[in-house]
Amino acid sequence: MAQEVIISRNLQAELTAAIEAVSPDRLFVLTDTTTLALCWPVVQPFACLRDATMITINSTDEAKTLTTLANVWTALGEGGATRHSMLVNLGGGMVTDLGGFAASTFKRGIAYVNIPTTLLAMVDASVGGKTGINFRGLKNEIGVFNEARTVILDTHFLRTLDTQNIRSGYAEMVKHGLISDDADLMELLRFDIHQPDLDALSALVAKSVAIKERIVAEDPYEKGIRKALNLGHTVGHAFESLALATGHPVLHGYAVAWGLVCELYLSATRCGFPSERLHQVTHFVRETYGTFNFDCKQYDRLYELMTHDKKNSAGRINFTLLGAVGDVRINQQTTKDDIFEALDYYREN
Ligand code: GLY
Repeated sequence: MAQEVIISRNLQAELTAAIEAVSPDRLFVLTDTTTLALCWPVVQPFACLRDATMITINSTDEAKTLTTLANVWTALGEGGATRHSMLVNLGGGMVTDLGGFAASTFKRGIAYVNIPTTLLAMVDASVGGKTGINFRGLKNEIGVFNEARTVILDTHFLRTLDTQNIRSGYAEMVKHGLISDDADLMELLRFDIHQPDLDALSALVAKSVAIKERIVAEDPYEKGIRKALNLGHTVGHAFESLALATGHPVLHGYAVAWGLVCELYLSATRCGFPSERLHQVTHFVRETYGTFNFDCKQYDRLYELMTHDKKNSAGRINFTLLGAVGDVRINQQTTKDDIFEALDYYREN
């Protein structure tokens, strides 16, 4: 069954319809401590949630663990959930990923709805059925592909976000622009993300999520073109892991933005990606996301971290690169020297 993604006009009516379509015997709402305080009050008065049982988990990515997952399973079991019950995930990517996995595995799978509340979750995590938890220090190591019945994107929740979280989600939108076309990319690079007009941002969100939906519909299980959505993430995840390991965690989207610069440099040297676009994106990332500080003594560590990427096969790092904006080249291999040169470019520009 194809996932329904709704750009919300009336959250109450859309959520009511999503619940009625399943007609669950019991309804559960998963929040984290942040969305319990900031977002639950928006939906709490809805009649469709009158009898819902609340489940709340901690709000940091460190909570995306087997222990938290077990707590959600326990709450579902103690709340009398059956295979005909439904879970509504109200939160950012941590809640939609972990809640989606809990729903996908409880009694071999119950229906779930995502109401993403962060920009990152709206344009990426909540759409496309990737669910999971972190395990043994590795992000999203355990999980399944299983789409929410319905995803309702209500950009009013963006008003609950701080600047850093808006910028973090915006990096995934820039990635979507890069794999889409020049017009989409340039519109994103011109948008005033420093003082964002949230109505204008909402229109960009709708476009961005449509790009993701198109790709997921073509390749839901990431056998091929869905790897386009990993642009920037091979290096980005390595930056994110290094930052975490050195006690200075960074938001996912910041690491992706920095990773995009490195991977566009590789795209330019390996696949002919135009240098003008490389420089425009480099400038935008520098202005918006600042600089990730590391030195050449950490290159080997970063390279080792890249070897854990889920896209890799037969011990080789597989990049998603671009021949031009919108010209996606998956499964690209490079040499270690090429990667080090891209890291040099990042540090020098
Ligand atoms: N976050 C990338 C994907 O959903 O494939």
